[in-house]
Amino acid sequence: MPTPTGAEPRLAAAKAVAAVLDRGRALDDALAEDLRGLDKARDRALARRLSHALMRDWPAANFLVTQLVARRPARRDRLVHFILAIALVELRQAREPARAVVHSAVESADRAGLRHLRGLVNAVLRNYQRRQAELQRAMPSDPVHRLGYPGWLLERIRSDWPEDWERILTAGNASPPLWLRVNRRRWSIDQARQALTDVGLDTRMVAGLPDALVLDRRVAISELPGFEEGRLSIQDGAAQATVEYLRLEPGLRVLDACAAPGGKSAHVLEREALDLTAVEIDPRRLERVSATFDRLGLSARVLVGDAAEPQTWWDGVPYDRILIDAPCSASGVIRRHPDIRWLRRPDDLKALVRLQARLLDGLWPLLRPGGILVYATCSILKAENEAQAQRFLEQHADARILHQPGRPGHVQTPGHQILPGEGDMDGFYHLAVERLHRGS
Ligand SMILES: C[S@@+](CC[C@H](N)C(=O)[O-])C[C@H]1O[C@@H](n2cnc3c(N)ncnc32)[C@H](O)[C@@H]1O
Repeated sequence: MPTPTGAEPRLAAAKAVAAVLDRGRALDDALAEDLRGLDKARDRALARRLSHALMRDWPAANFLVTQLVARRPARRDRLVHFILAIALVELRQAREPARAVVHSAVESADRAGLRHLRGLVNAVLRNYQRRQAELQRAMPSDPVHRLGYPGWLLERIRSDWPEDWERILTAGNASPPLWLRVNRRRWSIDQARQALTDVGLDTRMVAGLPDALVLDRRVAISELPGFEEGRLSIQDGAAQATVEYLRLEPGLRVLDACAAPGGKSAHVLEREALDLTAVEIDPRRLERVSATFDRLGLSARVLVGDAAEPQTWWDGVPYDRILIDAPCSASGVIRRHPDIRWLRRPDDLKALVRLQARLLDGLWPLLRPGGILVYATCSILKAENEAQAQRFLEQHADARILHQPGRPGHVQTPGHQILPGEGDMDGFYHLAVERLHRGS
């Protein structure tokens, strides 16, 4: 049973989703503010769970609210729409007793200063309970309502992945497992596993990802032994695969061109003693790179700059390895960030594809002949991945694709694509290219 204070987490969830859907804010940022008033970890977890659930079920919940509310609420009362949608998602999930859900929703309206709408909230939710079967029959049966994605993105994924689109979208609605990266400079995989077992956390190892452990359940970071001491990080397996494509060796000069918040830079430095430059365009995000390095006891040259305009920051010495973990649609990590589907717009995609091309073309001359460039995205859209790679290879005669058999995912022409949920990983694309010596 929810506690008598169950209204607060539900109100926090409603406010956060309103910020996403009405004002285009990222859910994590909105939640960070709205969770501040919640003292109990359990309430914060509930607000997070409900807001994520509504992101995944928005078309159906929105349909129900519009069916059940006869007159659109006044603009200043708009929050009631989201309070109702949250409650309807909860009623549909049927994890809590319906009476408690209705009660909490009514109290949420009260606490939101919408006392005059208590009666409406109560009546709408009772009405839903009575008419549930009929409303379910009236619900459009299209994939938008069934799977909870905007039409344009759904069509895009369907056209890119005619065989797999439904599996991809379903995987985007699942909760990901918790992946850990073990800092093997600090301790061994066996020591890490033992420390986790000692606190009751079972883990499994994954072939081809030598630093990775997957936990059998999600836990708070504070419960992870060794996290504060920089012995462990949280990083999905697909992101961890990136370092394998770089073929690192001690002493190499490496550029991470899109570095924040520093997950892959840190992985590179944990792997080998080398000379790393981390570039990031956003100075606020760059602070997170430094914080990541501090926690892990790592160091590198950290620069603010536009990686696509190297003349503004490059010292003129070529790199042995370049990693472009490019800004992208993030369509491969929707299971982690279910708000992405509502925040992205078709025009964003065009701009991202242009930026990715600028990064690839602008950074290629900085690679020494014989060096390796790795292009990675957490996207599953071909325009950002295979098509981008194809264009790059056609325009650079001195680029040769490096085939890396045995890496996770489907081999594409060119590159490797991991689809969301495959091997329990996020959706991710990797391409490794070598710069040929002149005349070779
Ligand atoms: C996918 S994230 C990188 C994640 C990071 N590699 C990690 O593993 O933690 C892409 C980053 O590129 C940055 N970025 C976008 N445009 C850039 C540019 N022109 N030059 C450098 N960084 C850029 C974004 O601010 C964002 O932090």
